[in-house]
Amino acid sequence: MKQLSTVYTDNGDADKNPVSMDYKYKYLALVLILALTFIHLFCMVVYPESLMANKLILIVVLAMMFYIWMRELKDKKTLQLLNENLLHAQEKLERAEIDVISALILTAEAKDPYTHGHSKRVAAYSLAIAQEMHLSEEEQKIIERAAILHDLGKIGIDDSILRKDDILSDKEWEIMKGHPQKSIDILDPLKFLEKEKEIILSHHEMIDGSGYPNGLQGEAIPLGSRIIAVADAFDAMNTARSYRAALPEENIIEELNKSSGTHLSADVTNVFLNILDKSPEFWNRAIT
Ligand SMILES: [Fe+2]
Repeated sequence: MKQLSTVYTDNGDADKNPVSMDYKYKYLALVLILALTFIHLFCMVVYPESLMANKLILIVVLAMMFYIWMRELKDKKTLQLLNENLLHAQEKLERAEIDVISALILTAEAKDPYTHGHSKRVAAYSLAIAQEMHLSEEEQKIIERAAILHDLGKIGIDDSILRKDDILSDKEWEIMKGHPQKSIDILDPLKFLEKEKEIILSHHEMIDGSGYPNGLQGEAIPLGSRIIAVADAFDAMNTARSYRAALPEENIIEELNKSSGTHLSADVTNVFLNILDKSPEFWNRAIT
């Protein structure tokens, strides 16, 4: 694709926009057309017998109109190219911002061997579910991004709470429950992530309304959040924690079935169980 800088320097002058330069020529052509039209009318009235001169003027006018039309087409193409390049640059910038945040999450997770790679795995499971549910590519992209960023707010929670081997006190639990809101507070300046933020905020909501932060029920919970909840629960059971080993496969399936329809969405759980059945590589904890 032609680069933005190339478009601006096509006429050899980096300070001048080619589109505005073209307009000068077009205005000049329009003034000439008007002048020639006036001369043409004048000739028709004063020298009606001079057909040859009239035809000549007419041909010149038509040629200039053709020139203006060609210029319009060229401008349209240039503007389209500029627009495409701007969109491309914006996409690259957004991707870079997400990459920086993802790197931050991965660094934070890397400190703890029990959560190392958690967000990346949850994103891989969530994407697989979204694909299996035949969601649009745009929805898949949003869900994958939300899954990578879902626990971003934990960065602001003290390690003594995050890595506590014992049961959390009420106060500590309240702090822990604040992480979805913290995640979206951190992402607040990134306005292009509005849908992702909505999904992240509700990733701990439960179908029966017993989740947090808002106690949403059933389909009031965004689909992306319901998908991440299943992926998150699976990864938590399928990896070791400081206080327990990873659960055996049959126990994980049993737990997923038990939570289906109460804590987890039944539809999403069924889809994920089918995926695990068809793609045993998802059991591999090395997926990153
Ligand atoms: Fe979470």
